[in-house]
Amino acid sequence: MSTPTLLLLPGDGIGPEVFAEVLKLIDWLARHRGLDVTTRDGLVGGACYDRHGVALTDETLAEAMEADAVLLGAVGGPKYDNVPREVRPEAGLLRLRKEMDLFANLRPALTFKALLDASTLKPEVIEGLDILIVRELTGGVYFGRPRGMQTFEGEERCVDTQAYSQAEVERVARVAFDLAAKRGHKVHSVEKANVMETGAFWRRVVSGLHAANPEFSAIELQHMYADNCAMQLVRNPKQFDVIVTDNLFGDLLSDCAAMLTGSLGMLPSASLGAPDASGRRRAMYEPVHGSAPDIAGQGKANPLAMLLSFGMALRYSLDRGADADLLDKAVENVLAAGIRTGDIAGPGATVVSTSGMGDAVLAELDRLIGA
Ligand code: NAD
Ligand code: IPM
Ligand code: MN
Repeated sequence: MSTPTLLLLPGDGIGPEVFAEVLKLIDWLARHRGLDVTTRDGLVGGACYDRHGVALTDETLAEAMEADAVLLGAVGGPKYDNVPREVRPEAGLLRLRKEMDLFANLRPALTFKALLDASTLKPEVIEGLDILIVRELTGGVYFGRPRGMQTFEGEERCVDTQAYSQAEVERVARVAFDLAAKRGHKVHSVEKANVMETGAFWRRVVSGLHAANPEFSAIELQHMYADNCAMQLVRNPKQFDVIVTDNLFGDLLSDCAAMLTGSLGMLPSASLGAPDASGRRRAMYEPVHGSAPDIAGQGKANPLAMLLSFGMALRYSLDRGADADLLDKAVENVLAAGIRTGDIAGPGATVVSTSGMGDAVLAELDRLIGA
């Protein structure tokens, strides 16, 4: 393939802090592993609003559409609490997801052995955990119409709309089944079919897709209500392999799953579109966490979710699985050596800053390749 293009969007709060570490990683891979990428810089979120009065410009969106992968830090912050919704930092991120048609958001939650003591759950509950949440990302209540203020029977009211088409449910469920086929062969489809029309529809469509495709017959499909799923994630998370769910439930359940791994600062994500005729798919990689205003500017943020998000880019967009494996190994070894940011610090840990953690990963990468 010709030199791939990466669009770099650090965003707000701890976004630029964790981004500095991923830039060091990209540089390391270029120097030691022959990674050849063209990078472009852009603004998103509050950083873009401060400069242009919108959370994403048309020019940056056009670059994102052309890029082989977009890397995003985080957006948002209390400074923007009172700006109009359509230009809020979050609107920039949502516009990227929607316009790039990134319907499948992969949020893997796995526990590193060394972090068993960092979770608030008992070690035996989380040891060996490996869950993949597949969150529908371009539909549901995030984007449904009508939306906003209305007058109803002489009174003001406000609505959001949850809506899904059959095609929207099928395409994300297909991604979940395909991924489960390469993992533990189990899919939990999560909704509230007991209460919501869209929940019952979601269940019907997922069941129909499963039944109609012989290649999915080796995959066990179970349906679960979203409230029960939240509880089961904490009670017995190892029962799950792949969870497929809608946009809002996926948002909530992935933050919940993050805590199984020890910290929200550990969870990466990949947001993928459909492959085109040449197999190329639009993609964006970002940590699951936000801009963490409570720790921004203090060098406390854990950069591992950001680094591991780039690991997903290496795997899914850049065809560099071996580099992704190397990065995973380096992260595992650094954690095993007791090097931690504050969010995952346990007894006897060496607590380091954001850049300290980035440096430790690079030093371990050096060691692994014998540099
Ligand atoms: P948050 O994820 O920013 O923070 C929640 C808690 O987790 C905070 O205590 C924070 O310090 C901690 N945390 C998060 N990431 C961490 C890291 N890497 N290392 C150590 N600790 C970490 O969620 P919030 O506080 O609800 O939201 C803050 C802002 O971020 C809001 O404006 C929200 O809309 C936005 N947000 C953006 C994204 C995104 O850009 N993808 C995701 C979630 C929230
Ligand atoms: C996430 C975030 C976003 C979401 C916000 C910032 C729009 O919470 O990526 O999980 O709700 O999807
Ligand atoms: Mn979220």
